[in-house]
Amino acid sequence: MKVLVTGGMGYIGSHTCIQLLEAGMTPVIFDNLYNSKVSVNERIQRVTGQSVEFVEGDIRNKALLVDTMKRHNIDSVIHFAGLKAVGESVAKPLEYFDNNVSGTLVLVDAMRDAGVTSLVFSSSATVYGDPASVPITEDFPTSATNPYGRSKLMVEECLTDFHAANPQWSITLLRYFNPVGSHPSGDLGEDPQGIPNNLMPFVSQVAVGRREFLSVFGDDYPTPDGTGVRDYIHVMDLADGHIAALNKVGQQAGLHIFNLGTGNGSSVLDMVKAFEQASGKTVAYKIAPRRPGDIAECWADSSKAETILQWKATRSLQQMCEDTWHWQSENPKGYPE
Ligand code: NAD
Ligand code: UFG
Repeated sequence: MKVLVTGGMGYIGSHTCIQLLEAGMTPVIFDNLYNSKVSVNERIQRVTGQSVEFVEGDIRNKALLVDTMKRHNIDSVIHFAGLKAVGESVAKPLEYFDNNVSGTLVLVDAMRDAGVTSLVFSSSATVYGDPASVPITEDFPTSATNPYGRSKLMVEECLTDFHAANPQWSITLLRYFNPVGSHPSGDLGEDPQGIPNNLMPFVSQVAVGRREFLSVFGDDYPTPDGTGVRDYIHVMDLADGHIAALNKVGQQAGLHIFNLGTGNGSSVLDMVKAFEQASGKTVAYKIAPRRPGDIAECWADSSKAETILQWKATRSLQQMCEDTWHWQSENPKGYPE
């Protein structure tokens, strides 16, 4: 199976390319390198012993997409490309709608022209807004609290309408919870540019000495220790979820929606402790005010994926922290240029 992976040089995309290769599939990466480095591909090759075709391009370039899909006889598309920083999206909503929403529409239009009718889309638990209860199942009401979340929700809605008009397509919406961790080799990992927005890259940069302390955003939430609770999932488990989606429903007409999470909630302080244990380093932190827009707690009911995709997250919190530390300690400045 030949799979076009938009955003394949990025954090989740690169780990998924490795698992595609391990599963005997052929990824073709399509990425504009806006938030990634071309050296990622050398790391994929180092880990798998296989080279991956890379096309440098923007998903808003329809002609290049059509040409790439036809030239490589693409069977399915996994669509990771997009912008993902919640705070930045508030300041730059147009950029987010242009990249994430218009970009996806151009991609689907290009797929139609190239005769490719199987799509897996990177959605997010952010589409559940502030959920009324936990764990969250796929039939919970959806809403958006910021432009990034709205872009994911708009894409889900556009794809739902498109699927209603084109029921022979296979469209899969994967709603990720909180991806963390890295490839166990230590050769690939998350490499945020500038100050990390997300918890675990920040924690690991404190541990490696790049930042002085972590600000814990709020300790007065109605949770066991007062800090925010999330469903952290190992990026390798998440990557495997994409392979399962391609294998089980990727050739099956339908609109398929799945949560990808572990079903366990961990607090910010749980994560700090687990990381300290895995790394043997102290992670200094200070309690800071709540971050606007944050919710108290969020974790998945992933039983639908377990039943239909026969997929289940298996890697522990300890493994997530150990692998993150392996990557961070061997690559303190991230990927080379
Ligand atoms: P990432 O930034 O590491 O990877 C995204 C990749 O897409 C980058 O390599 C970037 O260069 C590329 N890209 C961006 N805009 C592009 C464009 N217009 N054309 C071509 N390439 C473009 O992000 P990630 O963490 O790997 O996330 C992948 C996807 O998963 C995103 O759609 C994100 O919204 C979604 N997601 C991520 C998380 C998370 O916490 N990481 C959670 C839920 C959903
Ligand atoms: N946190 C801190 N300090 C930090 C960073 C985060 O205390 O420096 C806390 C947050 O307040 C939250 C938890 O750590 O309680 C996790 O925060 P992240 O920013 O790592 O993750 P979020 O759950 O806020 O958001 C992530 C992705 C979004 C996605 C969402 C749901 O960043 O893109 O999960 O999938 F939409």
